[in-house]
Amino acid sequence: MQKYILIIGACGQIGTELTLALRQMHGGAHVIASDIREGSENLMETGPFEILDATDYDALEEVIAYYEINEVYLMAAMLSATAEKFPMRAWNLNMNTLFNVLNLAKDKKIDKVFWPSSIAVFGPNTPENSTPQNTIMEPTTVYGISKQSGERWCNYYHNKYGVDVRSIRYPGLISWKTMPGGGTTDYAVEIYHKALSEQKYTCFLEADTELPMMFMDDAIRATLELMNTEPENIKIRSSYNLAAMSFNPAQIAEIIKKYIKDFEISYEPDFRQAIADTWPNSIDDSQAQNDWGWKPKFDLEKTTEEMLNNLATN
Ligand SMILES: NC(=O)c1ccc[n+]([C@@H]2O[C@H](COP(=O)([O-])OP(=O)(O)OC[C@H]3O[C@@H](n4cnc5c(N)ncnc54)[C@H](O)[C@@H]3O)[C@@H](O)[C@H]2O)c1
Repeated sequence: MQKYILIIGACGQIGTELTLALRQMHGGAHVIASDIREGSENLMETGPFEILDATDYDALEEVIAYYEINEVYLMAAMLSATAEKFPMRAWNLNMNTLFNVLNLAKDKKIDKVFWPSSIAVFGPNTPENSTPQNTIMEPTTVYGISKQSGERWCNYYHNKYGVDVRSIRYPGLISWKTMPGGGTTDYAVEIYHKALSEQKYTCFLEADTELPMMFMDDAIRATLELMNTEPENIKIRSSYNLAAMSFNPAQIAEIIKKYIKDFEISYEPDFRQAIADTWPNSIDDSQAQNDWGWKPKFDLEKTTEEMLNNLATN
């Protein structure tokens, strides 16, 4: 059977690179990008694109039927920092899009779903170092509450209706192709842009705020590996912990200085500090390693090299 894939929220930070990677694997015509806005040139030019509001069940169902979609990657969401400003909008977007996709899978209109969770599912009472797969989860942010609820619903739809839904708790993601969309870890992308353009950066988190992070290439590879593994390998149907590296703003600044000698960082923490303070420092992802062979390739040194080289030349 021919595989047709729909990416929802394809023009965002992850969706853009995921769409391009899937089009490389399956051919442009088999990977339909969709969003409520148009995306970058390479996304728009390499395959079909639909303007689609994924909170609209009928519109979503129509696109899925038209392209005979089997697999959906649901990347639309309101991220942590923005969600604190618009709690009800965030809840409606994050939950209704997930229910729409899960219900289409329950009714056998699609076969397989990817939906991302986040380290935001953890909270101030979670052990903060090497946070285990199964632990106390009492998120205190709107975004974290929506992701934790989403995880429970994914698990429920799998157990109750046999829906093949797969998920990863992404850490903060660092990428150069697309800017981040309003999260608490956005500083780790902005800092590279400012290092190149102004040789200085004012960070909205404090110097010693350690958070789990990952380079986008690793995140995309993890997503595709999880989606391509045999169903019997998947023991977790809520969401998998995933890790690559952990660092704080002072440490990333030190590494950037190796490449840009005059680079200076200053600190003006804002409301995002309170969000970051409730999140883990580092993540134990041994379950993902054991179940489907996850292994990261990019540490902070390699990420910095990739970011500075690509931003300087693209
Ligand atoms: N980027 C990260 O560091 C990170 C970390 C953990 C989890 N995640 C999760 O990964 C997913 C993708 O994140 P991202 O960083 O690419 O987000 P993003 O904000 O960059 O992109 C989200 C996209 O969804 C689109 N969108 C918004 N409302 C929509 C709607 N009603 N219908 C269709 N599309 C809509 C937006 O236009 C945007 O292009 C989200 O679920 C997010 O919570 C991201």
